[in-house]
Amino acid sequence: MKRLLIFPVLLLGLQANIAVQAADTGLRQRADTLVDGVMADVISARRHLHAHPELSNREVETGAWIAGRLQALGYTVQTGVAGHGVVAVLKGGKPGPVVALRADMDGLPVAEEVDLPFASTVKSTFDGKEVGVMHACGHDTHMAMLLGAAEVLMTLRAQLPGTVKLIFQPAEEGPPPGEDAGAKRMIEEGVLSSAPVPEVIFGLHVLTEYESGKLAFRAGGLMASSEDLTITVTGRQTHGAIPWNGVDPIVASAQIINALQTVVSRQIDITQGAAIVTIGKIEGGVRNNIIPERVVMKGTLRALNPEARIKLAEAVRRTATRTAEATGATAEVKIGVDHRYPVTYNDPSLTARMRPTLARLAGDANLIESTPQTVSEDFSFYQQKIPGLFVFVGVRKPGASRDEYAPNHSPRFKVDEAGLPLGVRALVGLTLDYMSGAGSR
Ligand code: NI
Repeated sequence: MKRLLIFPVLLLGLQANIAVQAADTGLRQRADTLVDGVMADVISARRHLHAHPELSNREVETGAWIAGRLQALGYTVQTGVAGHGVVAVLKGGKPGPVVALRADMDGLPVAEEVDLPFASTVKSTFDGKEVGVMHACGHDTHMAMLLGAAEVLMTLRAQLPGTVKLIFQPAEEGPPPGEDAGAKRMIEEGVLSSAPVPEVIFGLHVLTEYESGKLAFRAGGLMASSEDLTITVTGRQTHGAIPWNGVDPIVASAQIINALQTVVSRQIDITQGAAIVTIGKIEGGVRNNIIPERVVMKGTLRALNPEARIKLAEAVRRTATRTAEATGATAEVKIGVDHRYPVTYNDPSLTARMRPTLARLAGDANLIESTPQTVSEDFSFYQQKIPGLFVFVGVRKPGASRDEYAPNHSPRFKVDEAGLPLGVRALVGLTLDYMSGAGSR
């Protein structure tokens, strides 16, 4: 008897599951068609933004333009978040989780060299110098793709099983010295803690490393942490011919630089991801026969997992101060004072859960297991607070050379717009599938 009773229960469960999946399939198909319909808007938004880039923390017109577009789509927007950031919320017709989608807004002090009708001719000042300004990292495409997703999701509002929080974030590249900005400031201003509180966040970045139609990502450390490093070595000034009367900070610095290069090779578990110590600047002394009082070195620390990041900082500090001590000098070590980004860490279970969505949208053969990148991203700050997934979108014309489609930050950085529809599909697909619980059953 007991055994017979199980069958109807199982059947009921099966039917319910089929019903949910059917609804999901209908919504997905509708979303796919809607993405095709918004692509003309996405391309024109991208070209407008590309022609009007603004530097980090100066995204005045960009923020106003984004807010206007969102309002025209029916969104209520919050402006002036963390400087010129814009946040908009879409409450779906059905209950469900809050999903955040993020795009960055800033251009770079790079003079564009790409021959495009909408190439940037904008000039501004950076660090006291006149510079060209260009969306040389593709943040124009990120904003345009998120606007496209916003348009699709607004159309699907009634069927949407959850709430979307759109985050247009300024100053990803880092603000001018002395200013606070970017993801960290958005979080401080409550973007992840004020209602509706998101439980997950998705973000994209275009890369010419990958061809259009490809998506690349990996679970765990995708992009490195990045911290600036300043070491001030203080000795005692003396004549270059009488070194024993002073303490030579130049010799101490030479020993510190060499010792620092053993930190990664001897003290970091590199099987868990790369780490890097680079000294990029060293300054000390005024003439050949004076041993100076002081040497200042500047560098950068990178790590691909959060534990290594902590260990790296400790080891660099210890190695620099103790090596200086051995020579009779002192070293003051400052880490992460002007610049400090965590590891862009894709939550492993979220990544596993969303992989089928990305495979469905791009096709299995077009999903690339990204190699870890030693550059950094301030999307990492959100991922420290809530699970997040960051995905690279290919924007190099299939078959075209890396020379023609130069890498991000180059004055010849160029985007194949044919890669953008997949980015919009990914934003919409990740949102819908996460909300409907796909992969979590
Ligand atoms: Ni970027």
